Amino acid sequence: AYTPTPDDRFTFGLWTVGWPARDPFGDATRAPLDPVESLHRLAELGAYGVTFHDDDLLAVEPDRDRAVAAFTKALAETGLKVPMATTNLFTHPVFKDGAFTSNDRDIRRYALRKVRRNLDLAASLGAGVYVCWGGREGSESDAAKDVRSALARYKEALDLLCAYVVEQGYDLRFAIEPKPNEPRGDILLPTIGHALAFIGELERPEMVGLNPEVGHEQMAGLNFAHGIAQALWHGKLFHIDLNGQHGPRYDQDLVFGHGDVKNAFFLVDLLEHGGYTGPRHFDYKPARTEDAEDVWVSAAANMRTYLILREKARRYRADPEVLEALRDARVEQLAEPTLAPGETLATLEDPGFDLDGAAARGLHASRLGQLALEHLLGVR
Ligand code: GCO
Ligand code: MN
Ligand code: MN
Ligand code: MN
Repeated sequence: AYTPTPDDRFTFGLWTVGWPARDPFGDATRAPLDPVESLHRLAELGAYGVTFHDDDLLAVEPDRDRAVAAFTKALAETGLKVPMATTNLFTHPVFKDGAFTSNDRDIRRYALRKVRRNLDLAASLGAGVYVCWGGREGSESDAAKDVRSALARYKEALDLLCAYVVEQGYDLRFAIEPKPNEPRGDILLPTIGHALAFIGELERPEMVGLNPEVGHEQMAGLNFAHGIAQALWHGKLFHIDLNGQHGPRYDQDLVFGHGDVKNAFFLVDLLEHGGYTGPRHFDYKPARTEDAEDVWVSAAANMRTYLILREKARRYRADPEVLEALRDARVEQLAEPTLAPGETLATLEDPGFDLDGAAARGLHASRLGQLALEHLLGVR
């Protein structure tokens, strides 16, 4: 019942299963993985597609043309799709002070050319979303970065990328991925809210949305399900990075559900019932302790956990006791506009509001919250 199929639209970054597990304190614990092997293994596990950074394709074949040819052939063999692609603007030392917002103008121009090249490939592979994760856009020293100029350059870059996509006639939209810190001390556009406000300043705001990652909002101490609800409300949930995280600490990129499982339950409930139709994309890292075969066990775990939570969310929504508790908590009343058609604030009347009575009414959220937890724990 929890066996994924392509209809579930699960996708993985090539850099997730392919991570050789080098960290700031230690060398790689796994050998580089051939993207062709990743495609075959992920297809066998039931994935729908893969996503990639330009440089991920070069993991074992340094010649770009040959790497792209091998990747394209493996896509055809496996039937996997490429709904999203992105650019590596963080590994090379040239990006140490950022890409679109490096203080160094030559570097900003190089970054734009690097994105342009992979945009062309993304469009030719049929990708609909192009992610911009600005991991190096930021600073360690408040003295060394003029944040207002950096935002102006960030806007300039996105405006240029949108104009290019329109000019070329590509069917692509951009998705900004917020993150508060790591690898920079402070990253620009640190949360969903910052990124939403920034998008409103762009030339073509309709072409730019979000790719929020579970762990990144949780690193900032924020409620991810709330952030996703707001992104949906703005029509800006273009893509999503699913993984796990234990609160504010370094970016863990755990398997989906292996962090805050309760928030993961409400997230899946929201995605399944809130109108999100895009891919369910996993951006996790198989732990450094894991060997070459454990990688595939962890990849499968992401999808299985999602399917288990999806089933639990369905049962939760169908449970008569939950429906009654939802009514008791007046949850559905919030969907009703506060004033009736034709009413205005000036004509709003007091029909004899019982202030003390209303203040005394409980919300009964404890019962509802416990019912959700019991569904999650498998006792209902
Ligand atoms: C992170 C980020 C990255 C980006 C990816 C796309 O964990 O800090 O999620 O993994 O999503 O590199 O550019
Ligand atoms: Mn992350
Ligand atoms: Mn991510
Ligand atoms: Mn990641």
